[in-house]
Amino acid sequence: MAEAFRAFRIHGGDAGHRAGIERLDLDQLSPGEVVVCAAYSSVNYKDALAGTGKGKILRRFPLVGGIDVAGHVEASTDPAFREGDAVLCTGCGLSETRDGGYAERVRLEARSTIPLPSGLTLREAMILGTAGFTAGLSLLRMEQNDQSPEMGPIVVTGATGGVGMLSIDILTRAGYEVHAITGKLQHLDFLTLLGAKQVISRHGLHWGQRPLEKATWAGAIDTVGDEMLAGLTRVIQPYGNIASCGLAGGPALATTVMPFIIRGVSLLGIASAGTPRPQRERVWERLASDWKPAHLDGICTNEVTLDELPSVFDTLLQGGGFGRTLVRLQG
Ligand SMILES: NC(=O)c1ccc[n+]([C@@H]2O[C@H](COP(=O)([O-])OP(=O)(O)OC[C@H]3O[C@@H](n4cnc5c(N)ncnc54)[C@H](OP(=O)(O)O)[C@@H]3O)[C@@H](O)[C@H]2O)c1
Repeated sequence: MAEAFRAFRIHGGDAGHRAGIERLDLDQLSPGEVVVCAAYSSVNYKDALAGTGKGKILRRFPLVGGIDVAGHVEASTDPAFREGDAVLCTGCGLSETRDGGYAERVRLEARSTIPLPSGLTLREAMILGTAGFTAGLSLLRMEQNDQSPEMGPIVVTGATGGVGMLSIDILTRAGYEVHAITGKLQHLDFLTLLGAKQVISRHGLHWGQRPLEKATWAGAIDTVGDEMLAGLTRVIQPYGNIASCGLAGGPALATTVMPFIIRGVSLLGIASAGTPRPQRERVWERLASDWKPAHLDGICTNEVTLDELPSVFDTLLQGGGFGRTLVRLQG
């Protein structure tokens, strides 16, 4: 096993924010049963907030960044994992309370380590990453609450972001008609290729301000929050589900109870980082089989090394992101 390895480490607190590549030993990483030779990670909105210090993501300092990782087991003190096993981990405290995936070696807790399901490569697993897991978890929770394709179209907001694009691809594979709301109509062709039957500009939305407006969609996956989410509550059909998974437009939610008590609309909370293990395994199984997105290669619009990480954070935070950025951790 190599002694020292490279990691993108984030410092903060009273000393102020600073982040960059450092050489670490395994002993410097958070404790865990499974040592992984990391192959890929990815860049999520949360990674950009943590890496730039623009959001309070880390709950202790310093920590290696990166909320996702996939690679091969190098050593394990837990008998559930053997050397050479392909594994992944998303969320579960990575880059929040423990060292994350932006490193050549990662030490994971066995309870958070998921065997790579057959049907996915390590690379595909990280093109999905937390974004794909969140999209899959949204659909799982909607279907657990009786959403079905027969009810009508599902609208996806923040459509050109990681969660948005993967939601469109996954919903389409699962047999839903999908409509997309985006601030970047220049990507209409790509969103259509993913499966969107309608692409709507978020700048041209006029839903009205009554507690209930014309019921337009059978459900929604919302990555934007704030006025977008408030608007969605007013236009979802009876007994439809809204999966609330993001706040790209802000954290507020000003609405009334009318959609809930008159139309039976459900607002489902999506918290990917802390998803219980049985549900986590179920989502990955679906993502590797009948929900596997058909356009993963196209959705991966950028591939960077550890050294190139800082250059992608600002673009993402300014809402200029398009698709998923993969992080290559070896070579
Ligand atoms: N709940 C969870 O467990 C979980 C997991 C992953 C991500 N998230 C959250 O989900 C959101 C999306 O994550 P992501 O990784 O997909 O991020 P991303 O790749 O940066 O995508 C965000 C997208 O939101 C839209 N957007 C950006 N700024 C906006 C604004 N001011 N108003 C309205 N729309 C805006 C843009 O899409 P368009 O230009 O196409 O509209 C942008 O591409 C983030 O808030 C993230 O924190 C939550």
